[in-house]
Amino acid sequence: MAQSNRDGFTSTFGVLVATLGSAVGLGNIWKFPFLTGVNGGAGFLLVYLAATMLVGLPLMIAETMLGRTARANAVTAFETLAPRGKAGWKCIGWMGALASLLILAFYSEVAGWVYAYIVKAATGTIATTDPKVAAQTFGAMVSDPVSALAWQWVVLAVTGSIIMLGVAKGIEAVTRKLVPLLFILLLVLCARSLTLPGASQGLTFLFQPDFAKITPVVVLTALGLAFFKLSLGMGTMLTYGSYFRDNQDIPVTTTRVMLADLSVSLLAGIAIFPAVFAFGFEPAAGPSLVFMIIPAVFTSMPGGRLFMTIFFALTAIASIGAMLSLLEVPVAILAERYKMSRKGASLATILAVALFGVPAALSQSLAAKITLFGLNTFDLFDFLSSNILMPVGGILICLFVGWVYGLPNLERRLSNEGQLANRALIRVIFILVRYVAPAAIAIILLNGLKLI
Ligand code: TRP
Repeated sequence: MAQSNRDGFTSTFGVLVATLGSAVGLGNIWKFPFLTGVNGGAGFLLVYLAATMLVGLPLMIAETMLGRTARANAVTAFETLAPRGKAGWKCIGWMGALASLLILAFYSEVAGWVYAYIVKAATGTIATTDPKVAAQTFGAMVSDPVSALAWQWVVLAVTGSIIMLGVAKGIEAVTRKLVPLLFILLLVLCARSLTLPGASQGLTFLFQPDFAKITPVVVLTALGLAFFKLSLGMGTMLTYGSYFRDNQDIPVTTTRVMLADLSVSLLAGIAIFPAVFAFGFEPAAGPSLVFMIIPAVFTSMPGGRLFMTIFFALTAIASIGAMLSLLEVPVAILAERYKMSRKGASLATILAVALFGVPAALSQSLAAKITLFGLNTFDLFDFLSSNILMPVGGILICLFVGWVYGLPNLERRLSNEGQLANRALIRVIFILVRYVAPAAIAIILLNGLKLI
């Protein structure tokens, strides 16, 4: 089944770095803090942690395993692995491709804000600790249709050129260098934020749960974040798994990625919330939160302008690794199923994203009046992908592995054909994937959407 001419990651370490590159991105720096702020802090964090361990990790293991077994894109993988006459499972792959376009539409928009903030940081125009001024600066940027679109297209041009270089060269080379650097800068930010007067209120908000705030919608949002963070439920991890090496220990690699990703998010939270309270910002500010707080923290320390510029540049680079992995889902489908060249497939995907991206980029200006269920296009794409498509994809992947693919196959594939002594662990994973995860996702989904 394995095709020797298929592109793939060139070392075990490269696999870890690239997978981490997919997981770490705007989800850690932008989405995790803003959702934690909107959803009441520690309680949300607690549910998010539980969702990551009990649902996210087992699903990540299942997805990468499917990809490595089939050595194919998300659609073809289900076609090959499903029993005869059950090729309908490949819908999971198509759903994933759709989800990837929706996510990219708003993700590239937020990445555009980050690019714009690199310039603004360098020129000193966002150096303020005043909540009013910071909100105005951000508001002016997102409500300007020309700059919103232009920055989004810069993002797409940059990311598109990298993906055309191919998997090993493009993705590995870019992601290998940046995660450590970003980590160090976050530590610097944490140190500053924690020593601000009034910082302890932020820690209380982040770590002392108020259980009354954990509503069904909060639980669904936390689950959606767990999917979003680990790039699950829509074929990204499956596609990356298809580039994994045969001797890779999947449970170990995925656990490492999960823990590293979690540490980046927690650091971002510790960097942000003490400063939110110290400077008198509103924790529930929403998507603008980090774009106001990060400049404020840097402004209050020596050399802030330089560090701020580097921080936004690193965040931009981190977002590239994540976007590459999102693009890889449709690109691999087009290249492998329609025999398109990698260049052609990449161009077609980038164009599709640009199309979907227009309404997202204009959602705070020209297209502000276009809403569905009370959500503008930006929020709608986010909601549909994180809170519906990914959880539904997640349930289907769990059901496929737990009930169709089965324990004997799972044992064979996760032990690398018996080379690893991890039978007990695989049984735990199997139970989580067969019963716990699909049931939990289904209940949370129906409850969060107020259907039960
Ligand atoms: N995990 C990335 C982040 O947190 C985003 C991402 C990359 C993603 N690939 C994905 C989200 C696939 C959902 C699905 O920034």
